Formats: sequence, structure tokens, C-alpha cells
Amino acid sequence: MNKIIDFLKVHHDRFEQELIDILKIPSISSDPEHAEDMHITAGLLKDEMQRIGMENARVMDTGGHPVVYSEWLHASGKPTLLIYGHYDVQPIDPLDLWSSPPFEPVIKGGKIFARGSADDKGQIYIHLKAIEAWLAVRDDLPVNVKLVFEGEEEVGSKHLENFIQKHSEMLTADYVVISDTPMFREGYPGISYGLRGLAYLQINLRGTATDLHSGSFGGLVKNPINALVEILAQMKDVDGRILIPGFYDDVLPITEVEHDKLNNLPFDASAFAKSIGAPALFGEAGYDDLERLWARPTFDVNGIWGGFQGEGAKTVIPAEAHAKVSMRLVADQDPDDISKKFIAYVDSLTPVSMQADIEALHGGFGYITDLNNPGLQAGVRALQKAFDREVDFLREGGSIPIVKVFADIVKAPVLLMGFGLPDQNAHAPNENFSLYNYHKGIESIVYFFEEIGKLKG
Ligand code: BES
Ligand code: ZN
Repeated sequence: MNKIIDFLKVHHDRFEQELIDILKIPSISSDPEHAEDMHITAGLLKDEMQRIGMENARVMDTGGHPVVYSEWLHASGKPTLLIYGHYDVQPIDPLDLWSSPPFEPVIKGGKIFARGSADDKGQIYIHLKAIEAWLAVRDDLPVNVKLVFEGEEEVGSKHLENFIQKHSEMLTADYVVISDTPMFREGYPGISYGLRGLAYLQINLRGTATDLHSGSFGGLVKNPINALVEILAQMKDVDGRILIPGFYDDVLPITEVEHDKLNNLPFDASAFAKSIGAPALFGEAGYDDLERLWARPTFDVNGIWGGFQGEGAKTVIPAEAHAKVSMRLVADQDPDDISKKFIAYVDSLTPVSMQADIEALHGGFGYITDLNNPGLQAGVRALQKAFDREVDFLREGGSIPIVKVFADIVKAPVLLMGFGLPDQNAHAPNENFSLYNYHKGIESIVYFFEEIGKLKG
């Protein structure tokens, strides 16, 4: 093992340079103008997989941006890992708030600044470099590996579910491993054993055929913006509890063990509030802060529009009003079931003078990994060894909807070992990735292969 760790030291600078090279490609999945960059990035990943000794490396069609796949399957009798990550990145706007151009990586204060550095190119490179080190030093891996890197995570993994169904034979595995989450605090490795799900919808309310003069018609018709805010005001009570009938039916309560783990983490509510510029935090009554963030569902209005927004005043009753809303879900809530319950509730609240049209935009299930899972325990040992610190047990407020699809189709537990940090600015200007975490992450995965290789396949 020492020889592999030595290899990491010798190639430390090159590993950074290779990450810089892929960060230069603007693989923004949502922007059709970057379609070619998606192919260039996929091609670079395929070449890199081949170079380090992965086999069967190919760029595979999905109907959207391609998946890059490769495998190394010579550890007979050993477990098989399916390592998933994404090479697509979020858009860069607002560009003027970046301190350096998003696709010209800069290293400052031990961090590399570039779009996609933490989410998720830096994290997929951790796995490539760990595999490279094993194969270069030992010409062997203690575990079978399949790599699946997709290009559509940031746009909801539209084609991946079909791809997984279609190639379910190729994708059989004992564990799914993902590095696409942050750690809780600097210097302390974290294993995330839960993710929230999501149901995202748009409400369109129409009152009349066209906008009306508010003097000639006001008093005789219902205003759709008034109606919309009345409806939205009935989604939560003053204690922050969601009022959609049946909403909490399938929410799994957290166990006492989880509660203890959560309370062991340092969380300073007033410092946190200050760090985000909020006068105080707000959450559902009766729950601890981290429990609210990780283990309780939410309801949020993401956007609301309609009526007159120009300068000055306009006396008008608008014809329509709109809102985008999302609910972060927790295991075992079903996004389709929640969407149906939400639609039925909105319908019940919509006055007869109004027409409601509600579209479900996208969704996904939450996920929980059993804390006693032997693969998770192997991950904990590996992280502890590399960082020389106790491992934080985390759940995440965010979502990776494909996780539940993997769990159901591959029928394997999903292990979330992420190396981001809370201030990584994912999806925001000045996204960054700690280089300490990059190198410790590679070391962790080197140990993880060894640890999980001790388990039976
Ligand atoms: N890497 C994140 C997921 C994440 C975010 C995990 C925060 C833990 C904490 C992922 O790339 C992401 O942004 N997911 C979206 C999913 C959505 C587009 C369906 C999210 O959570 O909003
Ligand atoms: Zn993301």
C-alpha cells in the first residue's frame, strides 16, 4: 500500500494539471451551444480511462449527451463497484460576479476555482486517479470497477433512467459509489447516508380571457394573483408544517441512533444565519436544525409572476398568475404521489371563478443507505485512514434523483462519499474545490478499494 501512496506523492502535480485540463472545457449541459464541448469532454474522459488501464472504454449514446463507460473486471470473487459521476456543469451566469473566468482554472489559497471543480469534475477525477495509482503500481485492482459518467445530471438526468434500463446487464454491481456531495466541515471526512427527493411543479391560474381595467371590473371579478397568494398561503401553517392532506403519510422518522449522530455534529445556528446574511433561521417547529435540513420535507415557492411589473402604476386586473414550487422530499415519500396530493389540494382551494392548470416539471425519490451496510463501513474505515479523523455521518438536503433509480434497477446499495466543502459555491459564481480534499480524496478511494475488496462479491 505504501508504494501506491508514494505514487500519489510523485504524481501530485500532474494530477492537478490533468484536472485543470478538463476544467477548461465548458461542458454546460443546458446550453445547446455547448453540445460540441459535451462530446469533447466525453472523448477526453474516454481517452483518460483507456490511458490508466480501464477496459472497454466507450462514449455511449443516450439520446441526449453521452455517457462515458469503462470497466475493469479481473478481480474474480471480489465485489463490483459501479462508480457514477457527472461531467456536465451548471451555467456560469452571473458572469460579472466571478473573480476569475469560470473556464480558466486558478489556484488560490489551496483551492481551485472553476465551474465544475467541485460539482463534479474534481470528484470524478478522484476516482480516475485512485484507479490509475492501483493499476500503475500493482497492475491490479482489489475490486471490480465499472465507471459511468453522465452528461445530464444538472438538467435532471433525462435520458439516464432509460440508459440504465437498457444496459442493466452491463451495469450489474454490488455497490454504487458516488462522489457528488459536500463534507460537513473542513478537515473532517463525511459519509452521506441520505439524500432528499424532489417534486417540482408549476401552477398557472387564469381568471379572465384578457387583462381588465381595475376600475371598470374591480369588485366583480376575482384577481388571479390574489387567488394565487391565498392558495400558497395555505400550504404551511405558522409553525412551518405543510398542510397538503396526506403529505407526511410516508415520511420515515429518524431513529434515535441517527438523532444522536446528528447532535454530535457542531452546528451554530446564529453563525450559520450570519454566514448567509439572514437575521435568524426559520424551520418547522419541534425539530432540530440539521433534522429540518436533512430529514424533514419542505415546501418552497421558487418563483412567482404575473400582472404589471413595470415602472410606475397601472390599474389592471391581470388575466393570469403563475408560480413555480418545489418540495424537497424524504424517504419514503413518492414524488408522483406527492404531486397528485399537491394538485388535488390546489384544486380544492381554487375558487370557482378561477381556472387552475398545474404541470409537474420533474421529480425524484430521496434515499437512505443502511448505516450497518458493510460497504458503508468499509468507506468509513478508508476515509478515517486517509484523513486521520473520525468520519461525520451526514444526510444531505440536496438531491441526486438517479440514486434511487440505481438502487432499484442495479439492486445495490448506494454509497455517497463526497469531498466537496460547504463553501464550494456549487451552482454559483466562484465555484471551487479544495486541493487538500482532492488529494485526500484520491488517497481515501485508494484505501476504499482495498477495504471493500476484503468483502465478498
Ligand atoms: N451535487 C448536487 C447534489 C447535492 C447538492 C447533494 C447539495 C448534496 C447537497 C447535484 O448536482 C444537484 O445539484 N442536484 C439537483 C437535482 C435537481 C436538478 C433535480 C438539486 O439538488 O437541486
Ligand atoms: Zn449540481
